[in-house]
Amino acid sequence: MKGRENDMRGRLQDKAIIVVGSGTGIGAATVKQLALEGAHVCAADINVEAANRVAEEVAATGGRAFAVHVDIADETSVKEAVSLAVAQLGGLDGAHVNAADLRVIFEDSDALAEDLAVFDRTLQVNLRGHLLCTRAVLPHLLQREQGAIVYTSSSAADVGESTRPAYAVAKSGLNALMRHVASRWGPEGITANCVAPGFVFTPEMRASGQLPQELLDGMLARVPGTRLGQVEDIAAVVALLLSEQGRWINGQVYNVNGGALMR
Ligand SMILES: NC(=O)c1ccc[n+]([C@@H]2O[C@H](COP(=O)([O-])OP(=O)(O)OC[C@H]3O[C@@H](n4cnc5c(N)ncnc54)[C@H](O)[C@@H]3O)[C@@H](O)[C@H]2O)c1
Repeated sequence: MKGRENDMRGRLQDKAIIVVGSGTGIGAATVKQLALEGAHVCAADINVEAANRVAEEVAATGGRAFAVHVDIADETSVKEAVSLAVAQLGGLDGAHVNAADLRVIFEDSDALAEDLAVFDRTLQVNLRGHLLCTRAVLPHLLQREQGAIVYTSSSAADVGESTRPAYAVAKSGLNALMRHVASRWGPEGITANCVAPGFVFTPEMRASGQLPQELLDGMLARVPGTRLGQVEDIAAVVALLLSEQGRWINGQVYNVNGGALMR
């Protein structure tokens, strides 16, 4: 569990929140942050073993979290996972839809060379999957006449990049989906926002030792700051957007990138 600087204990007291894509990286950090702030959290992930470990870590520090399996490429799986979450949480106050299939990102080449299977898979999970999650959680939020959805986008939606077109298209589409949800259901008490991270050096990336130092140095050189992004930097913003303090924030893309992209 993170230290005192992220301790907003009680801000999310007894809020029922699902984090989809929570086994590792940013989602895992978000589960821990939300629980630290008092929320009861469902950690949903295709890698349910990893989500279980996150839930156990939360429980070991006195928080409340449990894991469920979900594959957001599959509508039935999404419906079942959200039903399980709602049954155990007794309703729903918020959702962080964070999952992305990042296994294919290195094959996401350019518009001429793109393998259409990579393009389709990227959109299936990173965009269509988020629509499926939206459809599954919204009725429960509406039942409480108030709720918040936060999607994880990326600065890739706004930076013209010479590679990974499918990833950027999916994240741009996600920003558009978010604005639609904010606009359509804002009048019924729902907020929808995106958090758009720049490069975040996750604990799993660090542990893999696979990212060359030159790449990390290059990422840092783009940041007008002193360090790379950490998963907790993103979790802190998600927690704000899911809290009462974030109630008047709607339809926004929050760029959290240390200043690497200024808009
Ligand atoms: N790390 C970065 O530099 C960075 C930058 C910008 C945006 N993002 C975005 O942040 C989010 C989290 O990324 P991360 O870096 O923590 O990566 P990660 O791979 O650690 O986290 C992604 C999680 O989603 C899960 N997932 C993958 N496919 C799924 C599916 N079909 N159904 C359910 N769960 C699935 C994975 O098991 C994993 O737990 C992603 O949306 C990513 O695009 C990351």
